[in-house]
Amino acid sequence: MATHEKPYRHRAIGSHRLKPETLMMGYGYDPRLSEGSVKCPIFQTSTFVFKTAEEGKSFFELAYGLREQKPQEEMGLIYSRINNPDLQILEERLMLWDNAEAGLVCTSGMAAIATTLLAHLRPGDVIVHSEPLYGGSEYLIETLLPQFGIQHEAFGALAGERTLEEAVAAARARGRVGLIFVETPANPTNALFDIAGCARVARAEGERAGGHRPIVVIDNTFLGPLWQHPLEHGADLVVYSLTKYVGGHSDLVAGACLGSEAHVAPVRVFRTILGTISDPHTGWLLMRSMETLKLRMTSSMKNARYVAEFLQDHPKVRKVHYLGFLQPDDPQHAVYRRQCRAPGSTFSFDIHGGEIEAFRVLNALELVRMAVSLGGTESLMQHPSTMTHSDVPADRLAQMGVTPAMLRLSVGIEHPEDLIADLRQALEKI
Ligand SMILES: Cc1ncc(COP(=O)(O)O)c(C=O)c1O
Repeated sequence: MATHEKPYRHRAIGSHRLKPETLMMGYGYDPRLSEGSVKCPIFQTSTFVFKTAEEGKSFFELAYGLREQKPQEEMGLIYSRINNPDLQILEERLMLWDNAEAGLVCTSGMAAIATTLLAHLRPGDVIVHSEPLYGGSEYLIETLLPQFGIQHEAFGALAGERTLEEAVAAARARGRVGLIFVETPANPTNALFDIAGCARVARAEGERAGGHRPIVVIDNTFLGPLWQHPLEHGADLVVYSLTKYVGGHSDLVAGACLGSEAHVAPVRVFRTILGTISDPHTGWLLMRSMETLKLRMTSSMKNARYVAEFLQDHPKVRKVHYLGFLQPDDPQHAVYRRQCRAPGSTFSFDIHGGEIEAFRVLNALELVRMAVSLGGTESLMQHPSTMTHSDVPADRLAQMGVTPAMLRLSVGIEHPEDLIADLRQALEKI
């Protein structure tokens, strides 16, 4: 332990390093500051009292970047649009999973993505992004950002398998390649993109004469923060919808952005001014959720394998897009082996038939809930082509492989035999 390390920030016992799941129970929280309360209370307050005027001045100097932070100096509490203990402690714990230097919690996954993109892009920039993307990210990039002079170029399935290199070349012809935004695995097809490959292309772009190195931002909602760690593979920033696995109980909406302090700092300024910071109660719920994050994600990941195997063998099912079924001759297999630690628990499957048959399955479900979202304790199923992806034109959906016969399933932590019993009876209705 370094001499300046606070006891509630111990990350090792002697030479033994503590694992993130252990640290979720207390890391970053000092009970002595809260009447000895074992759990961090909810600091339901909009503003904080300064001890002296000098202290208030000093806190603002740091918050507004008017001076450098001194060694071991901590950011003081000012106002809950800038910082709040529940959110600061939550951020410190969230950073442990991705081994990130800095992290920020926002009001939603979209708030985290929008705040990150606005902080790092400027008019005249071109954003290069993978396809398919979550609908909200796609709308932001294709419809909203162009209104601020920020254009886009896509690579991946939707863009007719255009490579990242080709998309970057096309972007360079239009302006500064500002940022590479990638969702991997992609929603709803589980298409994978090579994170280290994106970092290499970004470096090469930066090394061109007069080149700006685009930053690489990965949406890690589907496998993170347990089964994929984009920062380890060269990403600059990782963003999350915490609404999904991290929140994990389908009872809150939140998001996060993590990475090096240098890359997070501009996002923090935008978050303060746009007001996209989360709130103390949500922060407290997320801390509680993270105590069981590993248990939940491991349980649902194991369940998903049983369910995927059942579906794969079912005569009414044509194909299961489960990462655990990637074959060694599939180019995606090498990417999976390199950057994913497990196949996760959200995947799509195609049934024989079309919308009518898919709706019969959905309407017959007795245990699995028919709802969008994913990553909760309960299993959820939805129909991407008429629900989450209904705003994508039909020809582009077809290019992505999202057909009316596709259903997306987020597997929860119920007993897998109960889930299979429900799916069996629902598939019989086709
Ligand atoms: C991959 C992905 N990214 C981002 C989001 C947006 O998250 P939120 O709904 O928390 O704003 C979602 C939501 O479904 C998602 O699936």
